Amino acid sequence: MDKKLKLAVIGKPIGHSKSPEIHQDFANQFDAKIEFRKDKVTPDTLETWLDEFFKDGGKGVSITLPLKEAALNHADEISDRARLASACNVIYLKDEKLFADCTDGFGLIKDLEENLKVSLKDKKILILGAGGAARGIIPSIIEKNPEKLKIANRTESKALLLKEDLEGKIDLKGKSLTFQAGGLTDDFLLTDSYDLVINSTSISTQAGESLGLPKALFKGAKLAYDLFYAAEKTVFMQESLADGAEKVSDGWGMLVEQGAESFRLWTNLIPDTSRLLEKPID
Ligand code: ATR
Repeated sequence: MDKKLKLAVIGKPIGHSKSPEIHQDFANQFDAKIEFRKDKVTPDTLETWLDEFFKDGGKGVSITLPLKEAALNHADEISDRARLASACNVIYLKDEKLFADCTDGFGLIKDLEENLKVSLKDKKILILGAGGAARGIIPSIIEKNPEKLKIANRTESKALLLKEDLEGKIDLKGKSLTFQAGGLTDDFLLTDSYDLVINSTSISTQAGESLGLPKALFKGAKLAYDLFYAAEKTVFMQESLADGAEKVSDGWGMLVEQGAESFRLWTNLIPDTSRLLEKPID
């Protein structure tokens, strides 16, 4: 690659994003020259921003909150995984067309299976939250054939709707999956024990806030995984460890792995993620 590849990450807030550093690390591995912008964009300014970026020679853009759903409307082609998630976290130009894709589920599975050595097959999995973050990861989790998947959300109706929507889109025939949705109540949460508990709520963006989960939830859990990442352990991670989870993780590995998959879509190059996984960027 002789020419500088024009890339970007957009969303609001965007100041905290580590995407420029992550992609610079990937580019350095191949001596590829990139220019990576970080722009504050809202749903109102999304269309104009995308038009100008791609007119100006842009190749690919990472899409973060609150644009993941809206951005789907601006692509010519939508991948299966983005369609299942009803959201995208990457848009890129290929053969003069704009493609939307969702690499979040890929990133999570890669982090769980390869980095943390946690297999999902035949496991009991609880997902807390039923927003865009949950949508992005559930199809990839179902693909791994867990025994049981439960979605628990503060607003129960949203969890039920999400389950209904996914059942309409994913072929569950031939899978021995028990799929349930309910409220964030002790009654629903404590009728099972779980191998893996995933926090997809936005609670960890509010420092010091707790979901107030029952202590018994984490007894026997092999892993409690927070999709959020921060320098310090989140309250969810601290509480799940104190309540008996064997291991906890934040979402740094998922972020790096989804970035690597996005980088592959933009460049056809598969970066090595090991250095970034070992040494998070400050
Ligand atoms: P995202 O796209 O990050 O998932 P979202 O669509 O706004 O963001 O969803 C946020 C999720 O976090 C929702 O599941 C929300 O629950 P509600 O549907 O009941 O709003 C959940 N959430 C946020 N704050 C929460 C809190 N204090 N307690 C429990 N759940 C919370």
